[in-house]
Amino acid sequence: MAPLASRLGSLITLLASSSLLFSAVANAAVTGTSPNTVSSIVAAAASTSFAPSVAACATGNAGADEPFWLEAITHQGTSPFNRDPNGYRVFRNVKDFGAVGDGIHDDTAAINAAIQAQGRCGLGCQSSTVTPAIVYFPKGTYRVTSAIIPYYYTQLVGDAKHPPTLLADPTFNDMAVIDADPYIPGGGGAQYWINQNNFFRSVRNFVIDLRQVPPEKPQGTGLHWQVSQSTSLANIVVHMSTAPNTAHQGIWMENGSGGFMGDLVFNGGKFGMWVGNQQFTVRNVTVNNAQTGIYMNWNWGWTLQGITFRNCQIGFDVRTGGLTLDNQSSGALAIIDAVASNTPIFIQTSEPSNGHLAGSLVIDNAKLENSQVAVGVVGGAVVLAGGTKTIASWGQGNVYHGSNGVRQFVQGNLPAPNKASSLLDSSGRIVGRVHPQYENYRASDFVSVKDHGAKGDGVTDDTAALKAIFTQYANCKIIFFDAGHYIVTDTVYIPPGTRMVGEAWSVIAGRGSRFSDQNNPRVVFQVGKPGEVGVVEITDIIFSTVGPNVAGAIIVEWNIHEPSGAKAGAGMWDSHIRTGGVSGSNFEAAHCPSTVAGRYDTCAAAFLHLHITKGSSGYFEGTWVWLADHELDGSGVAQISVYSGRGILSESQGPVWLIGTGSEHHSVYQYRFLGAKDHFMGLIQTESPYYQPTPAAPVPFPFNAKYDPQPYQDAAPSAWGLHIERSNNILIFGAGLYSFFQAYTQDCVPARNCQAQIANIDKASTGISIFSLSTVASAKMLSVGAQGVINESDNVNGFASTVTFWGTE
Ligand SMILES: *[C@@H]1O[C@H](CO)[C@@H](O)[C@H](O)[C@H]1NC(C)=O
Ligand SMILES: *[C@@H]1O[C@H](CO)[C@@H](O)[C@H](O)[C@H]1NC(C)=O
Ligand SMILES: *[C@@H]1O[C@H](CO)[C@@H](O)[C@H](O)[C@H]1NC(C)=O
Ligand SMILES: *[C@@H]1O[C@H](CO)[C@@H](O)[C@H](O)[C@H]1NC(C)=O
Repeated sequence: MAPLASRLGSLITLLASSSLLFSAVANAAVTGTSPNTVSSIVAAAASTSFAPSVAACATGNAGADEPFWLEAITHQGTSPFNRDPNGYRVFRNVKDFGAVGDGIHDDTAAINAAIQAQGRCGLGCQSSTVTPAIVYFPKGTYRVTSAIIPYYYTQLVGDAKHPPTLLADPTFNDMAVIDADPYIPGGGGAQYWINQNNFFRSVRNFVIDLRQVPPEKPQGTGLHWQVSQSTSLANIVVHMSTAPNTAHQGIWMENGSGGFMGDLVFNGGKFGMWVGNQQFTVRNVTVNNAQTGIYMNWNWGWTLQGITFRNCQIGFDVRTGGLTLDNQSSGALAIIDAVASNTPIFIQTSEPSNGHLAGSLVIDNAKLENSQVAVGVVGGAVVLAGGTKTIASWGQGNVYHGSNGVRQFVQGNLPAPNKASSLLDSSGRIVGRVHPQYENYRASDFVSVKDHGAKGDGVTDDTAALKAIFTQYANCKIIFFDAGHYIVTDTVYIPPGTRMVGEAWSVIAGRGSRFSDQNNPRVVFQVGKPGEVGVVEITDIIFSTVGPNVAGAIIVEWNIHEPSGAKAGAGMWDSHIRTGGVSGSNFEAAHCPSTVAGRYDTCAAAFLHLHITKGSSGYFEGTWVWLADHELDGSGVAQISVYSGRGILSESQGPVWLIGTGSEHHSVYQYRFLGAKDHFMGLIQTESPYYQPTPAAPVPFPFNAKYDPQPYQDAAPSAWGLHIERSNNILIFGAGLYSFFQAYTQDCVPARNCQAQIANIDKASTGISIFSLSTVASAKMLSVGAQGVINESDNVNGFASTVTFWGTE
């Protein structure tokens, strides 16, 4: 690809290594002005109410002038597997590193010093989980002259009450104000991190102001966001030039394997977003007064939910037409609940799709106000006329029904999927709920688990301490998991009313013999008991296990159901279920190298990662359910052979929202829906295990009739990416189901046959709609009753193959 060097005249200066130590200086009073244009974060679709029974419980009535709790709370988070576990500091306030935030001083060096201090993972480091950091910006205006480079495992967090402004200086001459994967100066296109492995990043609560950068300069870019799974952008506003010659862009993203972003506003610019990435889920983005709202350069599949364009010239400008491995353009877009107001062209593609495969497009519930063209082609052809109207359900691409494997090319209306009212907000859109940040609460509304006996040192058994904390503080305080690695050796019950917040992804992990028997699987974290109703909010947490042998661990059992009237009141945001591959897991290359196969006992990391049970509801946003295929610490590249039985099993009767989730490398299935009902998913992403079919699924996990679909009869079965049985009203709005390996080799990728089947729907399911299904290297893209129906070879669309719609009916 064309690297940055050809796009920008000047390159990033090499980072000076920082010798700055943490200063004990207290935060100076903030003097800068801070236009608070970002509205309240917790003002969510859901209205959650608490009735505290004790005076000391959290009330959420902090005054506007009181500091954001994250700034005020005692910071005692640690990284136990860091080389200096006692000295390493997770939380860094940029003002402690000399940032002034008055809009006058150049704060670039101070901000980057806060990011880099204490040997973090920058240039030359592939990845690391032992140097996590929250880099915090109090309210103020921070002038920058070159890029802020968030190192691996960094959360950049602004004051959620008064989002700070990052003000690009008129001389700003770099790739972007925030650059999550810089090109190495003189590196011939090499970058800091491998784009598909650029995990664990989050940026929240900022205003990025580019308007002082001359309009014609593309250096006026808000974020270079070339990232992968377990990343998020949230609550960010970017201001750009609206001059006719503007070259400004809110986000520039040329590669990656994401990912989730949401609650973003772009004002002005040539492009609100200029993007290309294997797959991504974007929720709640508004672009005002840009020339082009979103330019889509390439993908295998994106889901765009709740996108609004106001006064743009073009809403979506989509590069299409590339059908070969080396000429990948935009494979599949799934657009739901969009609004285009005074935007003459809602969608335009670069090539026509007449009778052709390229450029699969799905539109569900788009409201147009004064558009001339709903869907058009560069050069003027109108595929779907504009106007002031609602597009209920429309698609362009190959469509299938039931067991009929004959493709039909459609450029027109599609059957509108049935959406349960429980999934919708009052205006009929799919519910979205912003990541709770508790900005109206005081630090005293939180309890620290470390203040209440938990150690989080990666060694101590914290089971009793955590049980006691949950019992005492659920439905009262917000439970703060100071950064750390908390071990439990028996089931921990997380009661209704729990609000728990991690610090740079605090890890809570099950260890020990109680979780070792796969014939008697045992829950590690039980969220509610079956039948329980209440609010649960989990943010910035990683659920995990520690080896050896936890083959019987069901890591999270989700039983909680949201209270009536509190849609998405039980959920997880920026939280993940991750096993293996990291320091402290005992599932690293030293224990479970891919070169020594068959360490089934010592290298079994879970029975099932997430069980969404029958009586529950759940909102899961950005959740990555990942069994590591390579180690993130150590070399950062070595492949490992660790085993997990199953990814996600849902038996819920709904509502369940899976917004931007992934499930990878589990032996039997990634996503399974059994007797499930009223689910919305977009986009779901899977990868099959790299070792399969040696051994073939379900080995090393014997078939378990309670948890597994009947094994299918191919000679060398691989894991299902998606398996649906006896289910009803399941709406999948974007899926990327991938198979990249056979026994760690990749010849099967160009041959497009790493596995035989990847998605199965049984004949007893009804009301199943799958839009925008992309698969990689599975000979059959979709099966009904375990018989392959859709041939991949009929739907080749660049690297992946794409089906625009399949439905049971
Ligand atoms: C990045 O994306 C471009 C398409 O824009 C593609 O040609 C290139 O191969 C990708 N590079 C990597 C390293 O994935
Ligand atoms: C969408 O994002 C905006 C800006 O962050 C926020 O104010 C609004 O509450 C969000 N709406 C929904 C439905 O999430
Ligand atoms: C890639 O595909 C596009 C659209 O069909 C076409 O215009 C372009 O020439 C192709 N490029 C190459 C290098 O084949
Ligand atoms: C799918 O491929 C199989 C095997 O090549 C072939 O027998 C079958 O006719 C194909 N199905 C369709 C609908 O073309």
